[in-house]
Amino acid sequence: MWKKFLYKNEKNEGKAALDNLDKALLPVHVAVIMDGNGRWAKKRGLPRTAGHKKGVDALREIVKAASAIDIKYLTVYAFSTENWKRPITEVDFLMKLFSYYLDSEIEEMNKNNVRLKVVGYVEKLSENLQKQVHNAEDRTVENTGLTLNVAVNYGGRDEIVMAVRKIAQMAAVGKVDASAVDEQMVDNNLYTAYQPPVDLLIRTGGDMRISNFLLWQCAYAELWFTEKNWPDFQPDDFAAAVQSYQTRDRRFGGLSK
Ligand code: FPP
Repeated sequence: MWKKFLYKNEKNEGKAALDNLDKALLPVHVAVIMDGNGRWAKKRGLPRTAGHKKGVDALREIVKAASAIDIKYLTVYAFSTENWKRPITEVDFLMKLFSYYLDSEIEEMNKNNVRLKVVGYVEKLSENLQKQVHNAEDRTVENTGLTLNVAVNYGGRDEIVMAVRKIAQMAAVGKVDASAVDEQMVDNNLYTAYQPPVDLLIRTGGDMRISNFLLWQCAYAELWFTEKNWPDFQPDDFAAAVQSYQTRDRRFGGLSK
């Protein structure tokens, strides 16, 4: 089990930092832009794909850490609507890696009560991959612990357009009145429908931008950036981000308490 793994880890990496967090002030929804895989590989004279592969290992550890401290939602950016512009060999590799991930991690997710959801325009993926996605989601649907959203072929603007389109279609057949369209209705038609907004957005790799990730859901997210490349990101870095979040004064446009 992951919780035991964390506590049994010989070096106890991340354990103290995770233990020291204020359990009453945890973010409910954490999002992560896992950037810097290519640079991690380049520094080591390796192909970019080696960085992505190592990125899967880092992701596994962060899912364990988030699950161990009872974070409810974790959304990670695996492939954006813009990533199709990369060389075909890299796109193919990322798709294969995603397919491998869907096969290899589900058992461990089930053991640890993690529910997997893929967010994004899944219909553009190959038919096989779409089947795998639905199969993986179905196999974890009963789990009630951490919900892990993996964003694939995801774009924040695209997601909002899709939601508007769905609402417009309902309006066209008289199921919805234009005056009834409100924030809740838009929210309920996003890929992350019925999930809470993002509390904390982490970005690795040194850039300080949102890159079309969860634009709607991040309206009041606290942002945390690190120079570390994603493959080097570890549970104690995750704890440092949450720790920083716990010091923030969240006013949501109001005044301090
Ligand atoms: C950004 O680094 C990373 C990606 C576009 C892919 C993220 C994918 C993983 C972390 C693999 C694990 C995920 C799954 C679910 C299979 P970059 O390539 O843009 O790095 P760079 O900015 O250094 O070039």
